Amino acid sequence: MPTEADATDELTLEEFDLASDDSKRQVEETLAALENELVGLGSVKDRVREIAALLLVDRAREQLGLSSSRPTLHMSFTGGPGTGKTTVAQMMAKILHSLGYVRTPRVHTVTRDDLVGQFIGHTAPKTKEAIARAAGGVLFIDEAYYLFRPENERDYGQEVIEILLQEMENERASLVVVFAGYEDRMDTFFSANPGLSSRVPHHISFEDYSHDELMRIADLMVAKENFRFDPAARAAFADYLELRMKQPRFSNARSVRNAVERCRLRQAKRLVELHKPLTRDDLVTLTETDVRGSSLFRDGASAG
Ligand SMILES: Nc1ncnc2c1ncn2[C@@H]1O[C@H](COP(=O)(O)OP(=O)(O)O)[C@@H](O)[C@H]1O
Ligand SMILES: [Mg+2]
Repeated sequence: MPTEADATDELTLEEFDLASDDSKRQVEETLAALENELVGLGSVKDRVREIAALLLVDRAREQLGLSSSRPTLHMSFTGGPGTGKTTVAQMMAKILHSLGYVRTPRVHTVTRDDLVGQFIGHTAPKTKEAIARAAGGVLFIDEAYYLFRPENERDYGQEVIEILLQEMENERASLVVVFAGYEDRMDTFFSANPGLSSRVPHHISFEDYSHDELMRIADLMVAKENFRFDPAARAAFADYLELRMKQPRFSNARSVRNAVERCRLRQAKRLVELHKPLTRDDLVTLTETDVRGSSLFRDGASAG
């Protein structure tokens, strides 16, 4: 039972110390992970910190009885494949969860095929099911612009957009939608759907990584799995990346992850074929052969 004194306390609360807020500590942990586990992404990190600060202050204001409406948290994450959009969405979901804006830190990822039905009457139930699955968390719509096909007047994607709009405006739904995809196509998508655009106040853009950043990402991934490149292997991997970056379907950090995994496969094969007891050093070291075994060095053809 709240006593009269409690009530008075609440009314006279004139300070709110952000430092004493447990949610703030959780948010700081996530921001530290964002900082330390992701290479580069300077402006993305700044934007995430800004949004976190805005929400922390919003909560402090609420504690002091300074009411304002629930902030609109729908976002767009634009950038090429493998630039960290999904990873950052997961961290953003954690932050929103720590601050009580969503009930779960879960990110439910969908694409057009998960939302649009093949036949008339199938789209609404499909979209509603996806929304129900994401409810209380984050709905991440990858390559969101495929929902809009202006060349086809009767495209069911339009129905998805209308249902999404209703859900996004529903204050009680506590659903946060993240629209993701290439920047230019997303711009076209939002210009063609101004209603949607006006409900998405936060735009975060992800740049392609430089060769140097990709190398640092490789080092991080290798170390995380308790491996290491020996110096010649690292130099070979730098050569590999230079070639791979010019290839079609190059996917930034995802291509790095795939390449590292293939190095591990070649290392494993090499070690097994040694037919001798393996030292700790053997087991952790990726050598130049493990890297140069890639078909990219042989024929410069598809990603090897
Ligand atoms: N800046 C980065 N530093 C380290 N690893 C990264 C970075 N960006 C992406 N990755 C890794 O690359 C892979 C692809 O990232 P992801 O978030 O799925 O990209 P996207 O959603 O933009 O396609 C993941 O394994 C992720 O951990
Ligand atoms: Mg992704």
